[in-house]
Amino acid sequence: MIELQGRKALISGAAQGLGLAIARLFVERGAKVMLADIDEAGAAKAAADLGPMARSVRCDVTKAPDWAAAVEATTTAFGGLDTLVNNAGIEIVKPLFDQTEEEIGRLMNINVMGVFLGMRAALGALVASGKGSVVNISSLAGTNGVPLFGSYAASKAAVLQLTRTAAAELKPTGIRVNAVCPGFIGTAMVDRLIPTVEAIVGVPFSALVAVKQLRLGTPQEVAEMTAFLASDAASWTTGSHYILDGGLSAGLL
Ligand SMILES: NC(=O)c1ccc[n+]([C@@H]2O[C@H](COP(=O)([O-])OP(=O)(O)OC[C@H]3O[C@@H](n4cnc5c(N)ncnc54)[C@H](O)[C@@H]3O)[C@@H](O)[C@H]2O)c1
Repeated sequence: MIELQGRKALISGAAQGLGLAIARLFVERGAKVMLADIDEAGAAKAAADLGPMARSVRCDVTKAPDWAAAVEATTTAFGGLDTLVNNAGIEIVKPLFDQTEEEIGRLMNINVMGVFLGMRAALGALVASGKGSVVNISSLAGTNGVPLFGSYAASKAAVLQLTRTAAAELKPTGIRVNAVCPGFIGTAMVDRLIPTVEAIVGVPFSALVAVKQLRLGTPQEVAEMTAFLASDAASWTTGSHYILDGGLSAGLL
């Protein structure tokens, strides 16, 4: 079992879904966790449910001052910060050329700029910790073109390149930077996209999932991979991405 005893983590988008599952597993494995989210009330409730190892802070990942405040809140509460999970993200589900400049700009700002700003804000604290680890939540969509998810796929590919470049540049500091690429996971994000996918593709979403990846992944399964990458067990892993998709990308049929 992966141990995170003594680690001090900041997780964005942690009020629900994957971020909350990651926060919960981190606490179970011994980490102190700051749950950061634009949904201040949701993050506060989630942190209260997780108990004394968890705190919360309001953070819009597109705002550099929010990130500075989130890092400050973490180092003040826990005496340092050694683990950053850039998880906050949004989706657009539409044919590519029906997507507007405004929609794509907002998505890129959250999914790409948010990851950049998070890493930049945490850098000093991660270096000071002597064992800094960053896990960026990309997507299987970051590794392929995906009909209906065009700008989302582009944003998640950008997350992979930010991950690789940051890992290469930060190698001398000892900070490791890796990414996780989940397929479809059972969260509110997937609940939101099901009606649109079904309307456009004309096939029940459950049938698509059953054929391609057997079942939806669980947030806990993503949390386990994230915990591994954050932990000392992954000490020689940096600049890599890890696909969790129940075999969706393993074959063409
Ligand atoms: N669910 C999936 O199938 C799946 C698959 C691959 C990748 N992902 C990625 O995993 C991450 C989490 O997805 P999820 O399914 O838990 O989504 P979700 O919609 O359930 O939760 C997203 C969280 O991010 C927060 N958020 C949104 N905008 C924000 C902002 N500007 N600043 C701070 N927080 C913000 C929301 O308040 C929410 O708490 C996303 O980056 C998503 O792209 C999800």
